[in-house]
Amino acid sequence: MIITVLVENTSIDPHLPSEHGLSLYIETKDHHILFDTGDSNLFETNAKHLGIDLTNVDICVLSHGHHDHGGGLLRFMEINKKAIIYVQESAFEPHYSKRKEGYKDISIPLPKGEDKRIFYVQDDHAINQHLVLFSKVKPKKYYPSSNKNLYVDDGQNLKNDDFRHEQNLIIEENEKLILIAGCAHKGMINIIDEAMSIMGRHIDYAVGGLHMFSRSTGISESKEMIERMGKDFLTYHTHLLTCHCTGEKAFEILKPIMGENIEYIRTGMTIKL
Ligand SMILES: [Fe+2]
Ligand SMILES: [Fe+2]
Repeated sequence: MIITVLVENTSIDPHLPSEHGLSLYIETKDHHILFDTGDSNLFETNAKHLGIDLTNVDICVLSHGHHDHGGGLLRFMEINKKAIIYVQESAFEPHYSKRKEGYKDISIPLPKGEDKRIFYVQDDHAINQHLVLFSKVKPKKYYPSSNKNLYVDDGQNLKNDDFRHEQNLIIEENEKLILIAGCAHKGMINIIDEAMSIMGRHIDYAVGGLHMFSRSTGISESKEMIERMGKDFLTYHTHLLTCHCTGEKAFEILKPIMGENIEYIRTGMTIKL
């Protein structure tokens, strides 16, 4: 399996711009998967530069209803005419981030007239024997504190987001289990716990952001909390490929604790698993 980072907050190549967002191109034995589309059309520009043909993508997964993960969806649907797009039903609800200057709309655009291509996932769904989507995650521990600034409009009021629009993907290949998450708003350890309970065994790799990043301060959690979480991660024996909303400050705290069990993945990197 090969994962190419099309969009992440940082880049390894000056010819590949980065943005606050996430988009991963994943080649498995049987599928070409686009996991999230980033914030803009940058995923397309970078894919072209990397020689990746997005018209061959047959599965697109949107991790959740935030613009930095689904902002490129309409462009993707223009350039690709065959992929089924898997998204939680509630992902198209209006979502907001509370900032100093007020509430910022961070919703993802709703495609019009192409409903047949969108598969609205309710909670958990096995795409096939080797690809499993799941959403029901209990937010038990290390719940990111910056979640409290995120809101959803339920049609009547703005209320604190409960992230039922967030889904994660488990890929089984070569007897390994790879978990792909977007922002891990419900907490990566809680997500790994649920993935283990669905699959009945340990998760070899987890990929995604940990939501420890705040745009204003660069870090949203205490050093002590991040250290505790890092030690807890080690007990899972899951190799963590992290990025995006983890932020480099949180990564610098995790790295000495987790050593070779954690890596930061950047725009332009290709990871063979
Ligand atoms: Fe994000
Ligand atoms: Fe998010």
